[in-house]
Amino acid sequence: MINTAAAPFASILPVKPAPGPYLWWQEGIIYQVYPRSFMDASGDGVGDLQGILSRLDYLQWLGVDAVWISPIYPSPMADFGYDIADYTGIHPLFGTEQDFDQLLAEIHRRGMKMILDFVPNHTSDQHPWFLESKSSRDNAKRDWYLWHDANPDGSAPNNWLSVFGGTGWEWDEKTGQYYYHAFLKEQPDLNWRNPEVQQAMLNAIRFWLDKGVDGFRVDVMWHMIKDANWRNNPPNPDYRPHMATYEQLLPVYSTDQPEVHQIVSRMRQVMDEYNERVMIGEIYLPINKLMTYYGTNNNGAHLPFNFQLIALPWNARQIALAVDQYEGALPVDGWPNWVLGNHDQPRISSRIGKAQARVAAVLLLTLRGTPTVYYGDEIGMRDVAIAPEFIQDPQGLNMPDLNLSRDPERTPMQWDDSDNAGFSEAQPWLPLADNYRRDNVKRQQENPNSMLSLYRRLIALRRTEPAFRIGDYVPVPAEGNIMAYIRESGESRFMVVLNLGHGTSYFRPQHLEIEGAIVLDTIPEREGLVIKNRINLNGDEAMVIKLK
Ligand code: GLC
Repeated sequence: MINTAAAPFASILPVKPAPGPYLWWQEGIIYQVYPRSFMDASGDGVGDLQGILSRLDYLQWLGVDAVWISPIYPSPMADFGYDIADYTGIHPLFGTEQDFDQLLAEIHRRGMKMILDFVPNHTSDQHPWFLESKSSRDNAKRDWYLWHDANPDGSAPNNWLSVFGGTGWEWDEKTGQYYYHAFLKEQPDLNWRNPEVQQAMLNAIRFWLDKGVDGFRVDVMWHMIKDANWRNNPPNPDYRPHMATYEQLLPVYSTDQPEVHQIVSRMRQVMDEYNERVMIGEIYLPINKLMTYYGTNNNGAHLPFNFQLIALPWNARQIALAVDQYEGALPVDGWPNWVLGNHDQPRISSRIGKAQARVAAVLLLTLRGTPTVYYGDEIGMRDVAIAPEFIQDPQGLNMPDLNLSRDPERTPMQWDDSDNAGFSEAQPWLPLADNYRRDNVKRQQENPNSMLSLYRRLIALRRTEPAFRIGDYVPVPAEGNIMAYIRESGESRFMVVLNLGHGTSYFRPQHLEIEGAIVLDTIPEREGLVIKNRINLNGDEAMVIKLK
């Protein structure tokens, strides 16, 4: 029972959800597969499409709705697939077109959706378009990329840096110009102001949508357009030597230019030519900027990825405030989303610890908006320490002293306790976690207290209770390291209480009478306990209470 009469709750009005009917990508849960590391069926140590196919039963058992697969296109793999040499093909390492069609059909047969990765900002330097572009200054595709004369002294046109270290400009001896690359020199940036580039890229999107793909995660969406006058980026006053060299400057002229929204809305128009497809944008920007990627009247990305839970210190007050600010900043009918991890970020279990990662799971799966689960997080996989001689990630190799390699969060999925963790017959391309024999899917499936069991139960709760899928979000003021909120839909109300600290604590909502039973707890033994007003919490405990 909620005694609202006693509540002068000016600051915590429920956030109105977008009106229904709701679409699959609003109600559903997205699961990210990093294909090199999910499952290897061919026996070469690298994951592939048949491997993913062989694990669809698992994903269905887990209860996720959509599978986002990181790039599977032909690529020299300088950036492990984010350097694409053909936007409409399949890399032989991952399989054939037939394998792809079979995987898509099998995903659909199970009532799930498939989301592909689209990388519009840059191609591989081996893409035929770039080979043509660099062949001569008067080649028809010269203007498809960002070529620029040197300064009179031969130096690069401006001070823009590469995200992966060093300058963003590469000199081409043969044609006597520089080209710009926001990432590796093997990833030249496309010129999205060129209408032919736009057509070619939008046609690549259509190619996959025609096949029945359900949407795209769009790589580095905020990078696509650069300042037309090539102005120098200003220095970043907050830069410190332990940070990536890219952080030395504020990328105010090389990213997030107003014109990018025209491009995004054009992509969206293509998606809208088809039924119920989703466009997700990878965007690392502060909230106010992030919101602009929903577009004018929601003509932009359906889901500009919200990475706050990855970036914020793990502190209840800061996270509760960030959720409120995010909810408050959403445009009318803009749908929220939450992410705990991806293939570019340290794993949540390593960042906040195993016990808090359980609390984070409750948070991710009970907040309002589409959750994205990174493969392996559901079994609490941790970053795997990788000796310098085995580092493969270019970001790690280019800045060797800064500990920036992304390999640790990309290690093979730990399926069972057999050799190579059931991932492959061969030695995997990245080392497995040393403890995989005791920490793997099979073991955790057998253990009702495991992380996997917690994820599965949270997912089931979300699937069965509209309050979590589409209900209102009502923050409940709390103190210290406690965070609390109510999710409600119609008569059904739940209160979520999370202890983001390791110590015991208690919570007594102010101006609010609550009564109900715990239906899900990170300590399952506490389920069934009836709560009346005051709640005692163990360290690292999170609970869902069904309110009367
Ligand atoms: C995105 C991808 C990352 C890649 C980069 C360049 O941030 O997630 O893995 O290295 O773009 O394409």
